[in-house]
Amino acid sequence: MFGSLASLPSIPFASAPTPVEELNRLRDALGGGPRLLVKRDDTIGFAFGGNKVRKMRLVAADAIANQADTLITCGGVQSNHARVTAAAAARLGLRCILVANGAQPERPTANALLARLLGAEIRYVSSREARAIEMEAAAEQEQRAGRRPYLIPLGASTPLGAAAFAHAVTELLEQIPPPDVIVHSSSSGGTQAGLVAGCALAGVRTKVIGISADEPAPALTATIRGLLAGLTELIAPADVTPLARLDAAEIDVDDRFVGAGYGAPTPESREAIDLAARTEAIFVDHTYTAKAMAGLIARVRAGAFSDAATVLFWHTGGQVGLFS
Ligand SMILES: Cc1ncc(COP(=O)(O)O)c(C=O)c1O
Repeated sequence: MFGSLASLPSIPFASAPTPVEELNRLRDALGGGPRLLVKRDDTIGFAFGGNKVRKMRLVAADAIANQADTLITCGGVQSNHARVTAAAAARLGLRCILVANGAQPERPTANALLARLLGAEIRYVSSREARAIEMEAAAEQEQRAGRRPYLIPLGASTPLGAAAFAHAVTELLEQIPPPDVIVHSSSSGGTQAGLVAGCALAGVRTKVIGISADEPAPALTATIRGLLAGLTELIAPADVTPLARLDAAEIDVDDRFVGAGYGAPTPESREAIDLAARTEAIFVDHTYTAKAMAGLIARVRAGAFSDAATVLFWHTGGQVGLFS
């Protein structure tokens, strides 16, 4: 069923699979409820890990297949994706240009520090909107200099990047029976599109709930729908059974935990950071995973899941952000 997706070229930056663990102490702290599990992509052993490493395995392989010598991407000053792109470039001996929206930090910390240590050239722009233009300009400059740039869109949320998370579902299903629900952080949509596609292709009825880090639900849903259409084109038609029709897949985005905006802590995300650390020694970050964890906690407390259900928190990393 995963035939054509499984054969996509991939660079194994780190060994798989990531662990699946019980969250019994967190469950107890919430007064009971469903069985809680966590998929520890925060433990991926490459450049501090996270969901972007999964995507980069396929995206960097495509860059190499295209004889690229320079990776160009964008993100916020504290972008996890930018850090992982810089790390992939370093590992593969490629140049890396990062376009960051925001002010150049006087003293770089966390992801900004790591991107610099990894040798990336960082160009700062004043707004999110200016990023794409600056990336194109950088690519043209590189081409004029006789180099072969490879442009990676925001968050590597392309159909190829999303395919990595369809694969990740097969990895999970080799570890445990299908959970009833997966809860995770969603922003540029690739992770959620991949998880939804992976579940559909595997023929499991797991519900995937993406907790938005920034985007309003209708906009993020539309992005994910577009990525699913792109994924369908990547998949050989023989792989798609009626059950696996990606255009019919349910997309569940919850934008109630964004608060004042991208990266802005909320009382719920602060509580999630403390609770995850103090009950399970698991670290979630302000921008992404704490808001997703807050969404999970709120649902458990509201009795949204039956006690017989298994709910898996897909930890997408980002813990480096705690040091920003
Ligand atoms: C730690 C972390 N979690 C989740 C996400 C969201 O993933 P996606 O952009 O694929 O929706 C990101 C993306 O930047 C991230 O860095």
